[in-house]
Amino acid sequence: MDLKQKIQQLKKEKKAIILAHNYQRPEVQDIADYTGDSIELSLKAMNEKDAELIVFSAVDFMAESAAILNPNKKVLLPSLGARCPMAQMLTVDEIKRAKAKHPDAPVVLYVNTLGSCKAEADICCTSANAVEVVQSLKADTVLFGPDMNLADYVAEKTGKTIIPIPSHGFCPTHLLFQPEDVQVQKIAHPKAVVLVHPECTKEMRAVADFIGSTSKICKFAKASTAKEFIVGTEEGILHRLRKENPTKKFYPAYEGAICPNMKLTTLDRIYVSLKEEKHLVTVPEAVAKKARASLERMFEVKS
Ligand code: 13P
Ligand code: SF4
Repeated sequence: MDLKQKIQQLKKEKKAIILAHNYQRPEVQDIADYTGDSIELSLKAMNEKDAELIVFSAVDFMAESAAILNPNKKVLLPSLGARCPMAQMLTVDEIKRAKAKHPDAPVVLYVNTLGSCKAEADICCTSANAVEVVQSLKADTVLFGPDMNLADYVAEKTGKTIIPIPSHGFCPTHLLFQPEDVQVQKIAHPKAVVLVHPECTKEMRAVADFIGSTSKICKFAKASTAKEFIVGTEEGILHRLRKENPTKKFYPAYEGAICPNMKLTTLDRIYVSLKEEKHLVTVPEAVAKKARASLERMFEVKS
């Protein structure tokens, strides 16, 4: 039996499902039961009834959200090192300090945060619904973290005063994209449509034809009549885009934009994770209860 067959067999034996983020390695996406963006994966995990184990092929905060939303399931993160550096940029102390300074401003936290931070939020958001979430609030001034670029994008779209917490949170992978690289690609592919994730800088967003979460980018590309696309988000998404659109061409805006944390999940690690039921993601119930409420409020917002 090869590794893929062994994984399939263990999945059956242990009643497990594999959820994978759009940035996962191609072979991981291919073996997954479901591939999606962060909100889709959270919803899948929350609504999962049959499986006993959820192998979460992504990074720490996504697996943690799954454990928070479905405490009756065992959620496994195949690689303990798969941590999102942006999520580490915000601390509970920082949120408390910001709240003390702006007591009337609600706290909106991107899901790229640790559970302990989500527990301090009024509401969570993802890149797929951040604008709608902030629009849904009565307040005109909002504390928003940890991504300063998403905060800036939300400010542009809503016209509200968005105070970023911390002041300079960012995704190291999305920071690598430069508008000059897009211009070079445009010379080679003048008709290509530019698709960009909102974690990119303002300068990158300015050269985009479409801005959205990873799955929104996939939906846009599928529905578009264009034949060529320049993609301004982590390179793992290219596998899904090419698989779903075999007649269209996709060019990375910058080839080096790789999230090393997402790539830590390999088939080997998934196999060991299933076999040894590790690494189990746990969140203390006192924290989980509050964090769940912030996530559930997000699900109530139409987007
Ligand atoms: P999506 O929710 O768009 O999949 O983004 C998650 C992420 O970590 C982007 O870097
Ligand atoms: Fe975190 Fe950026 Fe990797 Fe997304 S791409 S998981 S924000 S480091």
